[in-house]
Amino acid sequence: MRLLLEPGDEVINCVPTFGMYPFSTQVCGGRVVEVPRHEDFEIDLDRVKAAINKQTKVIFLTSPNNPTGNVTPERDIRELVSTGVMVVVDEAYYEFSGVTASPLVGDHENLAILRSFSKWAGLAGLRVGYGLFSPQVAAYLMRIKPPYNVNSAAQVAVRESLEDIDHLQAVVRDIIAERERLFVRLQETGFLKPFPSQANFILCSVLNGQAQEIHQELCQRGIFIRYYDNPLLRNFLRISVGKPEHTDALIEALKEIC
Ligand SMILES: Cc1ncc(COP(=O)(O)O)c(C=O)c1O
Repeated sequence: MRLLLEPGDEVINCVPTFGMYPFSTQVCGGRVVEVPRHEDFEIDLDRVKAAINKQTKVIFLTSPNNPTGNVTPERDIRELVSTGVMVVVDEAYYEFSGVTASPLVGDHENLAILRSFSKWAGLAGLRVGYGLFSPQVAAYLMRIKPPYNVNSAAQVAVRESLEDIDHLQAVVRDIIAERERLFVRLQETGFLKPFPSQANFILCSVLNGQAQEIHQELCQRGIFIRYYDNPLLRNFLRISVGKPEHTDALIEALKEIC
């Protein structure tokens, strides 16, 4: 954002999505242009394209998206890249989906991909990630990068994670398998409508009951999930995928509550 935005420039954000894009846009004096997603949380390609004007400097896409869990199809990314605006695809949850736009970066200067060690490698507290950029964009980023680098603790953690990658990838596979089991269990409750997810969480619409109350009841039982109750996500829960025993404890608690 520091590289691309001047005060008054616009950033297109496909809501509902991760909250940091508006934060970073505003810190840099930019203006956020919100384009709501379709009912199934696919991006609204026509409205995104219609929102582009001379002030548009960035289009943010999140794949898989937080909190909805769906990936952005490659054809949508290609179409937006073809507009010439810088498209930033946040692939923080890539490892849980296996779907990536990375092969396109080599041919498109205006495509950037962001990745993280926070999710699949569990290093969120160490603040370490990476990006895939064209050499031209990477060179500009190096010019505005502070002289200080990723801290030493994070560097050690990354090196150890990469040495232990087979174990970490096995954990990711376990989470993916558990995600599918959790999906079915949530569906079986009858009062939740889970949305198919390619991330390590599942978004659910609460069909019968109040998300906030369910959240509160679960908290009292030591189970912590997210709830949403805003105009874009009215009465929703987001549940992180854990171990099989976490799924079982959640489902038991949900049976008690509702
Ligand atoms: C879509 C998305 N991108 C990025 C992040 C944060 O990643 P990092 O810890 O690497 O800043 C999150 C965390 O919640 C997220 O949901």
